[in-house]
Amino acid sequence: MTEQSQAQLAATPPMGWNSWNQVRCEGLTERVVLEAATALVDRGLAAAGYRYVVVDDCWQGGRDESGRLVADPVRFPSGIPALAARVHELGLRFGIYAVPGAQTCANYYDDYPDLGLGSYGHERLDAETFAEWGVDYLKYDWCRAEETTPYDRPQAFQLMHDELARLRRPIVYAISEYGQGEPWRWAPPMANLWRTTADIDATWPSIVSIIDQQAALAEFARPGAWNDPDMLQFGNGALTLAQNRSHFAMWCMLAAPLFLGTAVAGLSDELVAVLANPELVAIDQDPLGRQARRAVDGDAGQVWVRELADGGFAVALFNPTAEPRRIGASFEQLGVPSGTGAVVARDAWDGSERVLAEASVSDDVAAHDTRVFRLRLAA
Ligand code: GLA
Repeated sequence: MTEQSQAQLAATPPMGWNSWNQVRCEGLTERVVLEAATALVDRGLAAAGYRYVVVDDCWQGGRDESGRLVADPVRFPSGIPALAARVHELGLRFGIYAVPGAQTCANYYDDYPDLGLGSYGHERLDAETFAEWGVDYLKYDWCRAEETTPYDRPQAFQLMHDELARLRRPIVYAISEYGQGEPWRWAPPMANLWRTTADIDATWPSIVSIIDQQAALAEFARPGAWNDPDMLQFGNGALTLAQNRSHFAMWCMLAAPLFLGTAVAGLSDELVAVLANPELVAIDQDPLGRQARRAVDGDAGQVWVRELADGGFAVALFNPTAEPRRIGASFEQLGVPSGTGAVVARDAWDGSERVLAEASVSDDVAAHDTRVFRLRLAA
């Protein structure tokens, strides 16, 4: 596969569901995966763009006599090829998890049995196995591979890239090393997405801190190659509606991959409507592929802006504080050209529109909430 076709694999940030934030290691079974896939379709989220169903760590049962990975027969009695086929029958795509070292993260952190699950020394066979199984997306996760391989990060991730590139089957390549080795500097175009931070928790401070860590990274994202601020904790823990809205809206502003990690069947209609909001999904999936930059960073709130393919801009007024705030920015701060005629701002939450009377965007933002406006410039 050429670098150009690798980029076309994820021309916009991939969207879907991943098992980890929902069931972690302990609760992973083929039933959970199928329930998620079915719920994506039934709740209209597949139609909204969520189409990759990714099985994270803890699916593996070891290797057979020929060294080939096999699934845990208790958790996945039907086997991975049958599961992938069921996911494909639903009109969705199937993803899986592997690591470049000898042990997976769950071997280190979740007491998962060490059965020789890592891809070190098996890279070609594992890539071929995944392609035969019908895998469309690979999450390849560092997990302390410096302890078990002679490779540095770029070498280890390049090795699997090269194996994937030999295959006839296109496989989106998501890498994860928690941002420790500044992957935004070397991962594109080798990988379609790279994690930029340590693991996200289902807490407000974790979400705010991850947003903060993305401020310096906007220039590195582009079609086919995305910063990944980690999967969504949307719907998890004790996150409030405002916090869930902010989490989702800011991931859309950041052109982030959007992976749900919650029990989709059990989400309230109100939360499903947030995830399926066509205005926000369109901002995340904007074909220009520009990640938002932070235009205003104050104690009383933040303003983020990204340029869109139609010549307009998406502006987010993000309130990380526990008080309602008036948050805003001038066109100059936003990089919006002024003096070109009327600018219309469309509220992404309710679809209402207004003409901006002054060369600025500002509004009241509830505690922990985010307002998003799509600016349309006069022709
Ligand atoms: C790491 C990753 C997580 C998840 C687990 C699986 O912590 O960052 O996203 O894949 O490993 O063990």
